[in-house]
Amino acid sequence: MTTPLVQLRDIHKSFGGIKAVDGVSVNLHPGEVVALLGHNGAGKSTLMKMLAGAYPIDTGDVVIAGQPVNIRTPSEAQAQGIETIYQTLALADNLDSVANLFLGREKMTPWRTLDDHFMEVQARKVFQRLNKNFTNIRVPVRRLSGGQRQVVAISRALYFNARILIMDEPCAALGPEETAMVGDLVRQLKADGVGIFLITHDMPDVFGLSDRLAVMKNGRLVGTYRTEDVTEDEVLGMIIAGKRPEGKAQTVRAE
Ligand SMILES: Nc1ncnc2c1ncn2[C@@H]1O[C@H](COP(=O)(O)OP(=O)(O)OP(=O)(O)O)[C@@H](O)[C@H]1O
Ligand SMILES: [Mg+2]
Repeated sequence: MTTPLVQLRDIHKSFGGIKAVDGVSVNLHPGEVVALLGHNGAGKSTLMKMLAGAYPIDTGDVVIAGQPVNIRTPSEAQAQGIETIYQTLALADNLDSVANLFLGREKMTPWRTLDDHFMEVQARKVFQRLNKNFTNIRVPVRRLSGGQRQVVAISRALYFNARILIMDEPCAALGPEETAMVGDLVRQLKADGVGIFLITHDMPDVFGLSDRLAVMKNGRLVGTYRTEDVTEDEVLGMIIAGKRPEGKAQTVRAE
């Protein structure tokens, strides 16, 4: 067994009286895709936002590559190699793809001006790696297709060398071809050793892309299984009724 890239141990988070995440433990290994499943409001995004530094944790531990860490802000998460692709593809619509790639992490010249040339050359390289046909990188991203916007969002993770990638419903707004492209990207990143938490409601994505799956319901973890060990009906039973499949071994818990 390799050391897990991420160990989330007994994580809790309440908003007022609502226990959004209630004692969840899950881990992630290099080159592994763990699908995070559950109904609307189950706590999936909240759990991932704590790993991404967007929300503080109430109680619980985060261990990255064997080291306990205290992630308080998104930049502290990024410093750990954690990148997030949000449900909403948080891009700045009026800026072009190059500017979006470097948003908040702009490269400056020694004269403290934007190093536009450097950023464009780098951006072109990373976009091309994902989609050879994506060349209109200087138009505002609001004029791009969903798939091209997804390339920009994923490029932020690639360029800054994510080793842990959180994808929160990356295909929710995409057509079938673009969804297939995201699937290819996931496989490519996996092969590079990136660990991926994939939040999705799409069963073909779960069974096509994930190595393991963790199901949440009402803030609690129902169970964690190897994807090949469970059927779609069993997964739906966990999501809807919180019912663990009989006679199936759970994978090793994080603690
Ligand atoms: N910023 C917030 N303030 C108050 N309550 C919140 C906040 N964020 C989430 N919640 C609540 O926490 C619970 C878990 O929400 P969360 O968004 O994590 O669910 P989810 O599993 O990602 O659902 P979905 O599939 O709809 O994205 C819900 O009851 C939600 O209303
Ligand atoms: Mg969510």
